[in-house]
Amino acid sequence: MSKINCKKIKKQVKKIQVENYEDEDVSVINESDLEMIGKGRQGAVFKISDEVCMKVYGDVADCERERYAMSLGQHTSLLPKIYCEGDNFLVMEMVYGVDLREYM
Ligand SMILES: Nc1ncnc2c1ncn2[C@@H]1O[C@H](COP(=O)(O)OP(=O)(O)O)[C@@H](O)[C@H]1O
Ligand SMILES: [Mg+2]
Repeated sequence: MSKINCKKIKKQVKKIQVENYEDEDVSVINESDLEMIGKGRQGAVFKISDEVCMKVYGDVADCERERYAMSLGQHTSLLPKIYCEGDNFLVMEMVYGVDLREYM
């Protein structure tokens, strides 16, 4: 896998705005170069490469909670690997073949 440039990704995050709503998916203003591949109630997910994606959260507390949950599985192959992180985003392994809307 090609090297992941966390610094460059962090610059893209600044061009993405994610806002939470009570009972629906987040709203997203994406002025980055990244393609959005999905969203949910907590965040929006962007393609970095075929193997890597990034989730940007509307609320840093949600990011913190998911970072912690995923950190518990980093020594297994059950949860996506985390490559870079920030207050409101996680760069992780792209998962194929399961609908994460149902899985997570
Ligand atoms: N690691 C991943 N690899 C591929 N697609 C992902 C990944 N994480 C999330 N997605 C896509 O983004 C969507 C939203 O992600 P999800 O984690 O369910 O957000 P939320 O926590 O807001 O519900 C998912 O339904 C899925 O399509
Ligand atoms: Mg979801």
